[in-house]
Amino acid sequence: MIDFRELADKYKTPLYVYDFDYMTQQYEALKEAFRGRKSILAYAVKANSNLSVVKHFADLGSGADCVSIGEVRRAFLAGIPSYRIIFSGVGKNDDEIREAIERDILYINVESEAELNRVELIAKELDAVCRISIRVNPNIDPKTHPYISTGLHGNKFGVDINSAKRMYIFAKNSDALDPVGIHFHIGSQLTELDPIREAAEIVADMIRSLEAIDIELKFFDVGGGLGVKYKDEVTIAPYDYAQAILGTLTGLDLTVICEPGRFMTANAGYFLTKVLYEKENQEKRFVIVDGAMNDLLRPSLYNAYHKIEAINKSDEQPTQADVVGPVCESGDFLAKDYPLPPLEHNDLLVVHSAGAYGFGMGSNYNTRGRSAEVALENGAERLIRRRETFDDLVALELEYLNK
Ligand code: LLP
Repeated sequence: MIDFRELADKYKTPLYVYDFDYMTQQYEALKEAFRGRKSILAYAVKANSNLSVVKHFADLGSGADCVSIGEVRRAFLAGIPSYRIIFSGVGKNDDEIREAIERDILYINVESEAELNRVELIAKELDAVCRISIRVNPNIDPKTHPYISTGLHGNKFGVDINSAKRMYIFAKNSDALDPVGIHFHIGSQLTELDPIREAAEIVADMIRSLEAIDIELKFFDVGGGLGVKYKDEVTIAPYDYAQAILGTLTGLDLTVICEPGRFMTANAGYFLTKVLYEKENQEKRFVIVDGAMNDLLRPSLYNAYHKIEAINKSDEQPTQADVVGPVCESGDFLAKDYPLPPLEHNDLLVVHSAGAYGFGMGSNYNTRGRSAEVALENGAERLIRRRETFDDLVALELEYLNK
């Protein structure tokens, strides 16, 4: 049992708390599911990019899936070896591509023909050979929230199968490119297996047709997307997920790469916030808390559900309330019409499943410093990011004041 009250008193609120032992369990469960097959779990750094979190995965043997050179640098700082780092993303700039090549990471995931040309040009300038993978868009509906669905032709990600084939031939004929992998990622928070299986089948067939023209790939990168339970979702078991993917690879000798983010960290994370006030207008009960959309954006952005627990209040009769923060936006809420007992100043609320896309999507809107982050591991707790101060927030502007 985590003593949330003690943590809130010690580190103040709003506060993120991560259970590192839970992250270990998630990593091990997924790794185990791919046993007997060469596989790399490349943790999707964007889900929670705190250096200590990334280091935790590095220590477990994880690789890293990065979507900016900043994330690549984080992965290096945290001790992920270069040969397990992947750089994906739809719009990499020249400096990012150059640095990724210089750092000799496992491969760059290329997302367009134009980008492939840039990568080739930069590799030539550096007199290097760049390992690449191509992100294909299998045009599969992942049946998830439209904002986090990525594998349809209407989405900006990847290239269609025909373009991909042309790109592989181009890469094979280039001295500066080494095509080693193929990549797809159809969406996030996936709870249905069929779209994953279908996408994997399409991409595995593509690999077979490339083999027929002497293009031999080594890596089958299935992206991330494994969903988690926020409320009552029925999620995919790691074993079934792995079987669905491996089942499409008959006769192919490939290393499977998987880029899980949410699965690793979402349910390891808690967001702690204290009640400031209660108020009621004629229609609604509001619980005003010290955490806000700048700390946890998912409810405002996706209408996402996060379970909220009122600490030490379990016997009292709940009524529905909107849990709102101090930010000056009507969209600033952590929950709508949520059953909560009567609450008072300083009561503690714990928002669950906040370990993925929580802190990382935070901002300093309304000049609010971002919260501290604390890790729990082996029964001990430690600070892994201090709370931002006002001085931190103005530091980059102050020197230009009155110039
Ligand atoms: N690989 C690629 C290429 C991705 O685009 C993503 C996520 C992942 C891996 C990791 O996906 P995961 O295993 O976490 O589902 N902010 C949204 C989620 C955005 C996901 C973006 N891409 C949210 O809060 O739900």
